Amino acid sequence: MREDDILKVYEIERKSFPYPFGEVLIHNIYFGAPELCFVIECDQEIVGFLLGGYIPVEKQTHIFSIAILENYRGMGFGKKILLHFLERSSLLGHTNTKLEVSVDNAGAIKLYEELGFEIVSRIRKYYQDHSDAFLMIRKTE
Ligand SMILES: CC(C)(COP(=O)(O)OP(=O)(O)OC[C@H]1O[C@@H](n2cnc3c(N)ncnc32)[C@H](O)[C@@H]1OP(=O)(O)O)[C@@H](O)C(=O)NCCC(=O)NCCS
Repeated sequence: MREDDILKVYEIERKSFPYPFGEVLIHNIYFGAPELCFVIECDQEIVGFLLGGYIPVEKQTHIFSIAILENYRGMGFGKKILLHFLERSSLLGHTNTKLEVSVDNAGAIKLYEELGFEIVSRIRKYYQDHSDAFLMIRKTE
């Protein structure tokens, strides 16, 4: 991802989530760790992104947000960008990755479990509408 992709990422974020991250937050996440933020293109158009960061002390990476434009879902793009992120996390020396996912997001949970993430806890009232999230962690092989 490059700095001038921030607006497009924000647009996809807004289309994908009921409580999207704001443009300023996306900007801050990007500059926190540009090496852990990715976009995926199809026909020279950005169709998805993954915003990541890290916690240096714990050598842990964090997936803040991931989304693929609706018309491009179910085509393997989500898995591809996640695998790329996990590979990069490992190359940078991180030992595990965490993320939060809505307990109702069965599709995303299935994808994460397929890639080795495990549910470690349930975070009550994580989202603005007071619904719950699962905390999922994957250890680097
Ligand atoms: C979650 C998301 C990023 C997945 O991206 P995607 O490109 O559609 O996923 P892929 O095509 O790579 O799917 C890979 C695997 O994930 C699982 N999966 C993904 N979406 C699924 C769904 N809606 N239902 C069931 N399984 C699903 C499947 O196991 C799939 O493997 P298969 O195609 O061999 O069956 C995408 O659906 C999305 O942007 N959703 C809206 C935003 C969101 O919920 N983000 C996650 C926040 S934590």
